[in-house]
Amino acid sequence: MTQTPYPGAVPSAADIRLQLRSWPEVESYLERCKGVIVPLGSTEQHGPTGAIGTDALTAEAVALEVGRRSGVLVTPVQAFGMAEHHLGFAGTISLQPATLLAVLHDLVLSLARHGFERIFVINGHGGNIATSRAAFAQAYATASGRGLANAPHLRCRLANWFTAAPVMRQARELYGNREGQHATPSEIALTLHLEASLLAKQRPLPEAAPAGPIHGPDDFRRRHPDGRMGSDPYLASAEHGAQFLELAAADLLKQLQEFLEESN
Ligand code: NI
Repeated sequence: MTQTPYPGAVPSAADIRLQLRSWPEVESYLERCKGVIVPLGSTEQHGPTGAIGTDALTAEAVALEVGRRSGVLVTPVQAFGMAEHHLGFAGTISLQPATLLAVLHDLVLSLARHGFERIFVINGHGGNIATSRAAFAQAYATASGRGLANAPHLRCRLANWFTAAPVMRQARELYGNREGQHATPSEIALTLHLEASLLAKQRPLPEAAPAGPIHGPDDFRRRHPDGRMGSDPYLASAEHGAQFLELAAADLLKQLQEFLEESN
């Protein structure tokens, strides 16, 4: 498998966006590289001061940065994820686990049909993890059941930018235990870096309810009345966000390169 998407050339930001490529360009890309990056987010409440699109904005930004550095194509962001437990808050749009499973399955099968063999999903939302893994298992089964020529070579990998070791280290250093588990200052910082208008929402907040078990949407709202889990997003800054983007992109780039070089 050749994994040098643009030999001898530095790809431009437009080169790596699937949305801006024509089908003959994708076909010739596939002669050089079988890898593709899929950003996966969620559209859900992020506390009283965070953007609803936080998980989609962050996953897409990290994916585009990893794409720019590697030359690997990036699909449009899948901005709706599994956010059932956030439905108690206005603006949240959720896919049921079975729906998200079907979406990811179909997406992998579409890509595999064209010859993509390394599907690298850059995820911005913890609630997507279990369903993504189930979707990959289903996709492998279908690819093999349909007798796709490249079924034996198909690999999917989930990479959560927010659990990359350097990102978690930096979050601990900057925020300690006020990083929390939801509407965290690290993810909010990245959105502030990406979208300056969000700075106007930042304000001091009372201490958040600590993380607890996650059940249905009503139970979540009862335990976490303002939507946060143990976090203090007021600690976030755009400068921190730039650091998180750099740390996440560098770490995920390494993960992607190892993934592309993995032998069958
Ligand atoms: Ni989030």
